Amino acid sequence: MLDSLHGLKRTHSCGALRAGDVGQEVVLMGWVLRRRDHGGLIFVDLRDRHGITQVVFNPEVDSETHLKAHILRDEYVLAVRGVVFRRPAGMVNPTLPTGEIEVLVEELRLLNLSKTPPFELENYKPDTSETIRLRYRYLDLRRPSLMDNLVLRHRAAQLVRGYLNQQDFIEVETPILTRSTPEGARDYLVPSRTNPGRFFALPQSPQLFKQLLMMAGVDRYYQICRCFRDEDLRADRQPEFTQIDLEMAFVSEEDVITVVEGLMAELFRELLGKELSLPFPRLTYEDCLDHFGVDRPDRRFGLELIEVTDIVGQAEFRQFAEVVAQGGIVKAIRGPGLARLSRKELDELTDFVGIFGAQGLAWIKISDSGWQSPLAKYFTAEQRAALNQRLQAQVGDLLMFVADLPAVVNTALGQLRLHLGKKEKLINPDTYDFVWVTHFPLLEYDHEQKRHVAVHHPFTAPLEADLKLLETNPGAVRARSYDLVLNGNEIGGGSIRIHRRAVQERILQILGIAADEAQHRFGFLLEALEYGAPPHGGVAFGFDRLVMILAGGKSIREVIAFPKTQKAVCPLTQAPAAVDLGQLLELGLRLDR
Ligand code: AMO
Repeated sequence: MLDSLHGLKRTHSCGALRAGDVGQEVVLMGWVLRRRDHGGLIFVDLRDRHGITQVVFNPEVDSETHLKAHILRDEYVLAVRGVVFRRPAGMVNPTLPTGEIEVLVEELRLLNLSKTPPFELENYKPDTSETIRLRYRYLDLRRPSLMDNLVLRHRAAQLVRGYLNQQDFIEVETPILTRSTPEGARDYLVPSRTNPGRFFALPQSPQLFKQLLMMAGVDRYYQICRCFRDEDLRADRQPEFTQIDLEMAFVSEEDVITVVEGLMAELFRELLGKELSLPFPRLTYEDCLDHFGVDRPDRRFGLELIEVTDIVGQAEFRQFAEVVAQGGIVKAIRGPGLARLSRKELDELTDFVGIFGAQGLAWIKISDSGWQSPLAKYFTAEQRAALNQRLQAQVGDLLMFVADLPAVVNTALGQLRLHLGKKEKLINPDTYDFVWVTHFPLLEYDHEQKRHVAVHHPFTAPLEADLKLLETNPGAVRARSYDLVLNGNEIGGGSIRIHRRAVQERILQILGIAADEAQHRFGFLLEALEYGAPPHGGVAFGFDRLVMILAGGKSIREVIAFPKTQKAVCPLTQAPAAVDLGQLLELGLRLDR
């Protein structure tokens, strides 16, 4: 019953034919998207990754072919030979690029059948479980929206290569089987059969190799590379993801930033037709926390955080005064027009900030007759006037306050700001807001491990001016690092690196890595630093995150061909899977679970 392709060659894709092709004999191949039987005529929408063409079976053209068309079902695979006709007046479909024409079929070859797909491909139903979609990913990918994402990703990768090639970068591949590359996540380990008891680690990034390439004289390196991190997954994280990774020798921050801005401008111009305005604005890490509460600000809307500690610390309101007396701070957000929120909605906001550790959310509604708030009675007229002035309060506003240690205040209000931005639809989805965040602290204190850890990675150079603080006040040392934030997403990060052994050793020491351990883990890098390492720096972008934003998606899984679930499994291949006892023995491994 099935036919072969023998002798038939495809002439066009299913998205190619236009009115100008009328009269041509064509051969199309693809999948049945839908079949409509109109008594005499049978219409089939034939789909491939380029589009959809309506093909028509008419009993008067060929009765045998028409009879055969009766058995066609969704997702059957066909080849048709026929002639292009203009659609009759009134039948033109302006929503389809091929909507002016149809192909009258003279020969039908049925190349393969299909079981009924486990979910509808044509009408996306959000209630189909993602595990089912991933289990049948090859079917889900047939949907034009996902297919378009793959094509977009491909074009983005080509543009990145083209741009960097032109800037004299060369693409170099670095090992996948390697040793631990510290980027803050757990490693994926691979046991070595030939060296029993030893393990490779999959790279969390090519960080050390790209630095070694600078020492080798590669000068300008890039790679579109896979990175592996065993960490808790979210919508914007996958256990294996792709970076646009680059590194440059003899540069300072400005050189790296200029290359990156040019690259972003190229991508947005070519893929979205948008002209970005360069240079991108910059904010210091401190500014970000002050105004947005987070280090990756979404600046597409207002609701900025404003510190009011000095004013409210004087008031009679016990909760504020106590926090301030204990060295805490008080910050506020002014919500224009939000005085309309109900008591229930205010309680919900209070619960929301509670998730981030805030003890409560104090609020003031500004009405025609002044403050409406349980707090009002604790403030003098002068204090009210000062607060109104600081927050630029207007009738109809809601003022929201959190008092606590700075970290809690910033996180709680920073998250509340994002929550309100989304809830109140303050974000225009068509704006692309890039911002560089600079001057991160080099180190942060990890209370669990009771030692300092690197905010970026241990190879980031400290700001020259802060070097003297390294031993006395390590938390105050700023890094020569920069993150690129787009619409509140951290899409990339990098730094100028340490290129002298003595400085690198000092940093490792402050990180609590003893000299022999440093030698054991990073000896090869320390050694290379002694053989003429040039000053160098670079950056890496989350390619998946970038493509997700370019595609207008909500999760990086939408732009990855075969992503994993939140639990880091692949429902399609059922990986990770159990292995044979024999394989384990060969590797010298024994499982205790
Ligand atoms: P970093 O760890 O900041 O820097 O990673 C760079 C960018 O990679 C993306 N990213 C991820 N994307 C998807 N899933 C993940 N699990 C994931 N983790 C990170 C983010 C991030 O900004 N070697 C340094 C770069 C350098 O210093 O040059 C590094 O890897 O968008």
